[in-house]
Amino acid sequence: MEDDVLFVIRKEHLETGLRGFPVGYCTTSSVDSQKGLFYAGLPLSDLVTWTPEQVIYLLYAKKVGSQQDVERFTDDLRSRASLDKRTVAYIEGLPREGDPMKLFIMALLAAGFNMRKDYREDALDLIAKVPSIAAAVINTHGGFGKTTFRSDLGYIENFAAMLRIPKAHPQLGEVLSLFNILHYDHGGGNLSAFVGKAVASGLEDMYGSIAAAMLALSGPRHGRANEECLHFVQDVLKEVNNAPTPLNVEQVLRHKLAKGELLFGFGHAVLRVEDPRATIQYALAEKIAPDSPLVKTALALRTAGPIVLKENPKISNPYPNVDAISGTLLTTVNFPYPAYYPVLFGLARTVGISIQIIYERLEARNGKGTPIVRPKYLYKDTTSSG
Ligand code: MLT
Repeated sequence: MEDDVLFVIRKEHLETGLRGFPVGYCTTSSVDSQKGLFYAGLPLSDLVTWTPEQVIYLLYAKKVGSQQDVERFTDDLRSRASLDKRTVAYIEGLPREGDPMKLFIMALLAAGFNMRKDYREDALDLIAKVPSIAAAVINTHGGFGKTTFRSDLGYIENFAAMLRIPKAHPQLGEVLSLFNILHYDHGGGNLSAFVGKAVASGLEDMYGSIAAAMLALSGPRHGRANEECLHFVQDVLKEVNNAPTPLNVEQVLRHKLAKGELLFGFGHAVLRVEDPRATIQYALAEKIAPDSPLVKTALALRTAGPIVLKENPKISNPYPNVDAISGTLLTTVNFPYPAYYPVLFGLARTVGISIQIIYERLEARNGKGTPIVRPKYLYKDTTSSG
C-alpha cells in the first residue's frame, strides 16, 4: 500500500549512516541479509558462469538477453569503446606517484572530453570505455608501458589483454571477469551508488557523477577494503610463520583483538551471513592455488574469524565479506598489486552505478526523475553558550 509505514525514525537513528532508511528504488539489484546479492531478481550464484556482457545486459535491459540481444549490445559497446586521443595523452601524462584511484578518477573526468550530455548515452559510453581507461591508468602508474587499446575480444578479455603487468597468469582473464561480475552492483544504498546518484540529482553529468561515486568508493571502509584485507592476510601469514592452521590463526586473531587491532574482511552493513561473493571467490582460489600459503591463510581466517568474533555480542555479522578473499584470489593469478584493487572495483561498479543513475534521472517518477537530494539535519548547539 502507498501509505504503508516503511521505517520509523527516532533520535537513536540519527548519525547511524542512514542504516535501514528506505530512500528510493533500485531497479538493478537487491541485497538480502540472508541470501545476499540479486541482479535484476536473479541470485548472483546463477550468474557466475555468464559472460560480463551477459550480466551487464541483464542489469541494463532488466531481462535475460537472447544470444542476439547480447551480441547486438556487445557490438554497440565495441562501437563506443575508443578513447579520444586527448584522453589517452592525459592518462599517459599522469604522474606515477600518488593513489591510483585518484588517477583513475582524473582519467574518468578526462574521458568526458566528448560527453554527449545525455545520461543514457553517456552511461553506455562510460561502460564501454572504462576497461580501456582502467588499463591505461594501471599501465601508466605501474610503469608497465603504453597501452595497446583493443575492443575485439570480450569485455574483460580486452581489459586483461590491454594490461601489461609482468608474468601475466593464464587464468588472469577468468579471475578478472569473475571479479568484474561480482562487483557491478550491491543494491542502491552502498556508499558509492548513493553518492553517484545524489550528485546526479543536482543534474551533474554522468562523468562527474561517476567520478564522485568513485571518490566515495576510494575509502578504506568501502572500495579500498580489498587492499587492506590483502595486507591483513599477508600479516597473519607472517605471524604464523607461513604455516597457517585454523588453530594458530585463531590464536593470532585473539592476540590482535587483545591489542585492540581491527580484523579486516569480516562484517557488512546489510548482510548477516558469509557474503556469497566471498563464497564464490573462496571456491575459485582453492581451485587455482590450493597449496598457496596465502590461500590457506585466507581459508583459515574464514573459519577462525567467525569463531572469535561471535564471542562479541555487539558484532551483528562475524562472517567474511567480499573483500576477505578478493586480493588473495588476484594474487594467485600474478596480480599482486593491492593499490590497483580499488581501481578494479571501480571498473566494475561504474557499470551498476551508471545504470542506476539512468533510472533516477530518466525513469523514476514516471520519467520526471528524482528531485535533488536534500535530507534534514537537526541543529545541535555546540557553542560555548549552548
Ligand atoms: C559493496 O559491494 O558496495 C559493499 O559490499 C558495501 C555495501 O554493500 O554497502
